[in-house]
Amino acid sequence: MESKLLTKDNLDDVVHQYIKYYNECENGCWTYEKAHIRIHQVMTIEDSECRVLYDNNNLVGFYMGYYKQFDDLKAYFLEEIVIFSEYQNKGYGTAFLLELEKIVRNNGAQHIELISVKDEHHEHFYNKLGYYCANNLTMMGKHFS
Ligand SMILES: CC(C)(COP(=O)(O)OP(=O)(O)OC[C@H]1O[C@@H](n2cnc3c(N)ncnc32)[C@H](O)[C@@H]1OP(=O)(O)O)[C@@H](O)C(=O)NCCC(=O)NCCS
Repeated sequence: MESKLLTKDNLDDVVHQYIKYYNECENGCWTYEKAHIRIHQVMTIEDSECRVLYDNNNLVGFYMGYYKQFDDLKAYFLEEIVIFSEYQNKGYGTAFLLELEKIVRNNGAQHIELISVKDEHHEHFYNKLGYYCANNLTMMGKHFS
């Protein structure tokens, strides 16, 4: 198992796997253009930290996010982590998130934040690694119909 930086050289492979995963497994409607924009946006944001996971040269998953400066600390915002379907529930996600923690800590981050899907699976995955639900914040949105 090894990870490499997400760059323009492996971006296309990640985009194709991303579309395949979400459209086939999660009822998504991603097109190549939309998925490319989504991942490229985060990859090119200032202070981004995005890596791709391989096992025996097979693309297993990726994460993307970026560092955020606050008055009292530097944090890392994990925009998305995905382990592709055939590799899920084999410990890759846990190992990859632990590697991510090591990298961002070495780069000065003292905190990781993320927005998670609210279900038993994600709660289990994040809780066992020490992530908690922030009870002083709530996610808000407004949808234009
Ligand atoms: C969330 C995700 C990254 C986890 O990666 P993974 O490689 O499958 O994770 P691991 O194998 O390391 O751990 C999965 C854990 O969830 C558990 N799990 C799996 N399905 C579950 C379910 N329905 N309910 C509760 N726990 C569940 C597994 O048993 C395992 O726990 P364990 O280590 O205590 O046995 C992966 O499922 C994924 O990419 N999902 C789609 C994209 C996504 O939702 N990303 C996160 C955005 S917030």
